[in-house]
Amino acid sequence: MTEPKPYSPGLEGVIAAETSLSFLDTEKEEIVIRGYDLLELIRSKGYGDVVGLLLEGELPMPERLQAIEREMTQAEIPTAVYDILRLLPASMHAMDRLRTAVSALAGFDPEANSTDPNSERRRGPKVIGQIAQIVANLHHIAVGEKPEKFDPRYTLAENFLRVLVRRSVSPAEVRAFEQSLIAYSEHELPNSTFAARVVASTLSDLYGALTAAVASLKGPLHGGANEAVMYMLLEAQTPAGLEALIRRKLAQKERIMGFGHRVYMRKMDPRAQLLKEVLRSLVEASGKGHEYVEMCQLGEDLMRTEKGLYPNLDYYAAPVYYLLGIPIELYTPIFFAARSVGLIAHVIEQHAENRLYRPRVSYKGPRGKKI
Ligand code: SDX
Repeated sequence: MTEPKPYSPGLEGVIAAETSLSFLDTEKEEIVIRGYDLLELIRSKGYGDVVGLLLEGELPMPERLQAIEREMTQAEIPTAVYDILRLLPASMHAMDRLRTAVSALAGFDPEANSTDPNSERRRGPKVIGQIAQIVANLHHIAVGEKPEKFDPRYTLAENFLRVLVRRSVSPAEVRAFEQSLIAYSEHELPNSTFAARVVASTLSDLYGALTAAVASLKGPLHGGANEAVMYMLLEAQTPAGLEALIRRKLAQKERIMGFGHRVYMRKMDPRAQLLKEVLRSLVEASGKGHEYVEMCQLGEDLMRTEKGLYPNLDYYAAPVYYLLGIPIELYTPIFFAARSVGLIAHVIEQHAENRLYRPRVSYKGPRGKKI
């Protein structure tokens, strides 16, 4: 048995997996995705390209890309999954309803319990498409509307946005939304990805690992932050209002959602910088939402001077989704849907070369007590 390593609260700084999927190079301020710069992928590729890259190891050739988009957009949702969602109280948090739906998908996949990496890789695009379609319909089902199917004539990103907002969408809106999906797609070993790998390491199945990841991502310290950022901006209403709100929260030692990051610490999340550009281009294209650009810049400047903290991607994803007309309760489910490709890729890696996660403890309790 190896000697226990020193305790690091929250596993801060601990290398907990080997991977060829992604790496956060904080020195070079680059997010590496299978050798590519994530910002370059966001600027010049589509979400289907990133699905091919993460699941199959290389950027897909045109005919493979078309096939991946089709596998995602033709994915059927078992009616029983929508029936189960209809039985849940509409007051239930969207992430809790999503968690239930992801778990239920296992019942309709004949290979659900296969931990063969080739089976998981082959099924990946379909599962990604199912999760996106379920998220796109979550709010509609909660308000009693019929779910809408994806149309294989469009890409996953365009289907996802069209069904989310139930209106025709402009190319500029689709591109902004697709760039957010790529920004969220994969990010090394965040809490939810680690949760998925921990579950997969017992040789439990893909759906169990994804369900654990949904539960983790809901937390406001993690994926839940994008929803919280939007509520904060709406409460503030104006730049002056945001300054007062942030100062009040800081005085009460509260966390400001959308700021800080365990890995980036006192640096800007590179994705936040790009989503800030996406917000600006969306505002220019639509001619509305300038107030959010101004408000977010003030918040960013204030947090930098007051706390030396910088925005993470959730801070700018929130106003982008708000200007697209997406219900706020769906911001974190969208994050999960976008990240499903990274999660599945990590589960495949874990099952391909597994070692059961079983850390030790630093025991602080009593010893030698007699009954
Ligand atoms: C995501 O891991 C990933 O990659 C995640 C993610 C991904 O793509 O999967 O990037 C997505 O989860 C982004 C993070 C979204 N969460 C939020 O925006 C919630 C607000 N952020 C914080 O709660 C916090 O910054 C964390 C949780 C993100 C990181 O926290 P750490 O690393 O545990 O840092 P810490 O709590 O030790 O804080 C260090 C100091 C403390 O001050 P002191 O007590 O030392 O004086 O910084 C302060 C904290 O109080 N601080 C904040 C703050 N974040 C840290 N103060 C005010 N507001 C904040 N947001």
